[in-house]
Amino acid sequence: MQVGIDKIGFFTPNKYVDMVDLAHARNQDPNKFLIGIGQSEMSVADQTQDAVSMGINATLRYLDRIDKDKVGLLVLGTESGIDQSKSASLFVKTALKLKPEVRTFEVKEACFGLTVALMVARDFVRVHPEQTAIVIGSDIARYGVKTRGEVTQGAGSISMLVKATPSILALNNGHSAYSEDINDFWRPNDSRVALVDGKYSTQIYLDFFKKTFADYKKQKDLATKDFAAIIYHLPFTKMGLKANRIAVADQDETNTKKLQSSFESSKLLSNRVGNIYTASLYLSLLSLLENGNLSAGSLVGLFSYGSGAMAEFYSGKLVAGYEQELDRAADEKMLNRRQKLSIPEYEHIFNEALTDPADGQELTSDDEVGTWYFAGLRDHIRQYKKII
Ligand code: COA
Repeated sequence: MQVGIDKIGFFTPNKYVDMVDLAHARNQDPNKFLIGIGQSEMSVADQTQDAVSMGINATLRYLDRIDKDKVGLLVLGTESGIDQSKSASLFVKTALKLKPEVRTFEVKEACFGLTVALMVARDFVRVHPEQTAIVIGSDIARYGVKTRGEVTQGAGSISMLVKATPSILALNNGHSAYSEDINDFWRPNDSRVALVDGKYSTQIYLDFFKKTFADYKKQKDLATKDFAAIIYHLPFTKMGLKANRIAVADQDETNTKKLQSSFESSKLLSNRVGNIYTASLYLSLLSLLENGNLSAGSLVGLFSYGSGAMAEFYSGKLVAGYEQELDRAADEKMLNRRQKLSIPEYEHIFNEALTDPADGQELTSDDEVGTWYFAGLRDHIRQYKKII
C-alpha cells in the first residue's frame, strides 16, 4: 500500500523585508545577501502570528477539501513553541474543529520536527489505512536585529495531509538517518532568539548530507542519476546550493543540469519567505512542484536537517495528476499580499514580538478576513481568533 502526501497548505505572515533595504541599513553589499546568502526577501511575523496561528492558517488552505472525520492524528513540529507543557497542536485542533478522538501532540528536534512528524504519520496510516493524518511545521526564525543571522530569518508554516493512495507524493520505504550531539544552533528556554554558530552549522549540515545521501543510495541500490530532483532543508538558499554542488560533483553534464535546474525551482519560495525552520524542506517541495516540470513517477530525494544535530535522507515518487493538487496562483497571491516594511518598521515589529502582550491586552490583526491570529492572553491563557 502506498502512503504519502495528499495535500499541502502554505501560510506566511503579511509583512516582509527586502534584502536590498536590509543590506543598505547594515552597510553591506546587497549582493552578499542576494547571492552570497541567496535571499531576496524575508517574511516578518508581528505579535499576532505564532506557531499556532500560522499552523491553523496553513491547514485551512486545504481543510475544506478533506474528510475531517477521517483525521485520526495531528502532529505539529516546531521550535517556536508557545508553551512548555501544552501542545500547540491542541489549539490548532480546536480551531480546525477536528474530532476529540484525534491523537495529537507536538514534536521537537530543531528543523527536523516536520520530517519526524511526517514519518510518524506515514507509519500511523500504514496501520490505520482508513484514517488520515495532518502534520504541520510552523516556525518563526529569529536571530535578532543587527546579528549575523539576521539575514536568515523568516516566518511561515506548511501543513500536509498524509493518506493512503496519496495524490501528490508516495513515500518510499527506507531512510538513512544520522545524528550527533553537537552545539551548532539552539534556543535556551529564556530566549526568543536562537544562538547559532553559522559556519559550524554549515559544515555539519554538509557532512551529514554527504553521509546520509551516500548511505541511502547504497541501501536502496540507487545512483544519483536516478533522482529527478533532490531538495534540501533551506535555512538560506545558499546552504542548499552548497549541498547540491556536492550531489552533482561526480555527475555528467546532463545529470548536473537536471539537478541544478530542479534545485533552482525548489528554492524560489524560500528565497522570498526566508527560513521557516521545520517547514523549510517542505516549502522547497512545494516550490519544486509548482515551478519545476517533473513528470509522474519522478523520484524526488529529500534531505532533512535539524541542528543539534539530526539528519535524514529519504525519497518519494510523484503521483500522476499531482499538479491538480497545487494552487500556484494562490501561493503567489499570499506572497504578494505582504506589506513591505521599512527597516525601522521591521526593527520595531521584531522587537515588540520578543515579548507577549500584558495579560488582558487584546491584540488585533491587520491581515485579510478569514485569517487566524493570536489575540492576546486572558488569565494567562492564549486566545486565538479569526478575522471576521
Ligand atoms: N557578493 C557575493 N557574495 C558575497 C559578497 C558579495 N559582495 N560578500 C560576501 N559574499 C559571500 C561570501 O563569500 C560567503 O559565501 P560562501 O558561504 O560561499 O563562502 C557568503 O556571502 C556569506 O558571507 P559570510 O561572510 O560567510 O557571512 P556571515 O559571516 O555574515 O554569515 C551566515 C553568514 C549564514 C553564517 C549567518 O547569517 C548565520 O549564521 N545564519 C544562521 C544560519 C543557520 O540558521 N544555521 C542553522 C540552521 S541549519
